[in-house]
Amino acid sequence: MVISRLKRLARDYLPRRILIVLFKINDALVERSLEYRRFVDADNESRAKSSALPGVGNALTRYFDLVLNFDHRNPVAIDCAHNIFVIGSVLSKKPRNLLELGVGSGYLTLSLLHAIKYNGIGQLTSVDNWFDTHGLEPKVGSQLRAAGANVVCSSEKDFVVNAPTDAYDFLISDADHHHSAEWLDQHLRIVEHNGFIFFHDTNQPGEFPGLATIEARVKELGIPFYHFKESSRPDENCNRGLLFVINKKRN
Ligand SMILES: C[S@@+](CC[C@H](N)C(=O)[O-])C[C@H]1O[C@@H](n2cnc3c(N)ncnc32)[C@H](O)[C@@H]1O
Repeated sequence: MVISRLKRLARDYLPRRILIVLFKINDALVERSLEYRRFVDADNESRAKSSALPGVGNALTRYFDLVLNFDHRNPVAIDCAHNIFVIGSVLSKKPRNLLELGVGSGYLTLSLLHAIKYNGIGQLTSVDNWFDTHGLEPKVGSQLRAAGANVVCSSEKDFVVNAPTDAYDFLISDADHHHSAEWLDQHLRIVEHNGFIFFHDTNQPGEFPGLATIEARVKELGIPFYHFKESSRPDENCNRGLLFVINKKRN
């Protein structure tokens, strides 16, 4: 309570340059107290070993290195099992235009970039308003840009509402957890027929009631889906929910 009041006062009265320095110090202190890395280090990661698989570069080696070395205690990142399912679907479906809403730790963004590299086709756009980092783009933003993502600073709503119809054939929505469900019609509009859509955190009606309504609404529309919501290990959070939708716009 006191901390959030102090933060509000600082935001209202301190010059932006000082505010940025304070946020950086605060984040550095918070990160030092965490037992896991808050963001992936896409710079170091890109120096991963080369692959034994001929003809595919080292994209899959890097992907599996990333998954096996990522600390899944990171609470914002997608679960290991769900990451592998999402990336498996990219490797198999070969989407051309991928949209990720919500970069977070950068774990899924980097995974998607490896999958695209392996496929040899596809362009990833990743949207984030950097809400989790006081509106400031973290270092991982430029790292992901250098690794090939089109990283856009925007609110989910603005981006989705202004995107052209059928612009994407793959979408993962993991950004505005409190309002995203309000523009489900827009998610469906901007993804083409047969495109794959994933919604994360869809099985927490207490914390994210809007997201928890998406399954029923998709069902009502007669669109095929599968809702992953089960954990089988003590160290995973798959029960948070991953809703997989195939965007059937016609038969
Ligand atoms: C749960 S994290 C995404 C996790 C990511 N999939 C991963 O694997 O690490 C949510 C992200 O969405 C961003 N975000 C929150 N509200 C947003 C909004 N209204 N528009 C755009 N991005 C938003 C936050 O800054 C945060 O980076």
